[in-house]
Amino acid sequence: MKPITIAVDGCSATGKSTTAKAVAARLGYVFIDSGAMYRAVALYCLEQGIRIAADNPTLEAALVDIKLDFILNPETGRRDMYLNGENVEQEIRTLRVSDVVSEIAAISSIRRKLVAMQREMGEHGGVVMDGRDIGTVVFPKAELKIFLTATMDVRVQRRMSELTRKGKPATSEEVRANIVHRDHIDSNREDSPLRKAEDAFEIDTTHHSIDSQVAIVVAMAQDLMRQEAGQN
Ligand code: CDP
Repeated sequence: MKPITIAVDGCSATGKSTTAKAVAARLGYVFIDSGAMYRAVALYCLEQGIRIAADNPTLEAALVDIKLDFILNPETGRRDMYLNGENVEQEIRTLRVSDVVSEIAAISSIRRKLVAMQREMGEHGGVVMDGRDIGTVVFPKAELKIFLTATMDVRVQRRMSELTRKGKPATSEEVRANIVHRDHIDSNREDSPLRKAEDAFEIDTTHHSIDSQVAIVVAMAQDLMRQEAGQN
């Protein structure tokens, strides 16, 4: 069966990455976490003391010095984010980075660079990519588009558990403030705001387990591939 492209979009902490990763594993596809790329650029700016603003020429010039790679970690079987040759997978998930990443992602020159990389990575299909603009901008022709939602309380709980698991606990107030802040910027920026594509399937994950939402998406993908195979 011809491999398809699956776009998984939605707000923070709706389970996008966890779902996309598991769906990719079940289908033997490549999982690409586009948010990790914006996070790595944010970390670079924090480390280099670069002011995050669209009109900062230093930031524009620094873009050529940023090299991003996803490299397989044999211990976890997952692909970790590398920034200029250094594994930054843990560091990019901290609140310090979450607090500035949406400002980074609102800058068009950064989006242009990262979207071009994302399209190149997914050009042959067989990928599950998660983010905010995958179904609307990066792969508007993706065969399957999923849009995940969940209530704010559930999202805060999920993100707190994730940070605790990673040894970087945060209070519910800190996590909630960060999610509200990012929802606002991500949905209101001029360039590629967070939107559900018209042809995306919305799944409210509030009462779903990860296993059940993965099963739903895998079944949709398999149905679609069977239909496409039947037509050819
Ligand atoms: O994991 P979480 O849902 O919290 O966020 P993420 O997917 O790691 O993305 C971090 C941030 O990057 C988002 O809040 C967006 O500002 C930005 N982003 C984006 O603008 N476009 C994407 N395709 C992916 C992420």
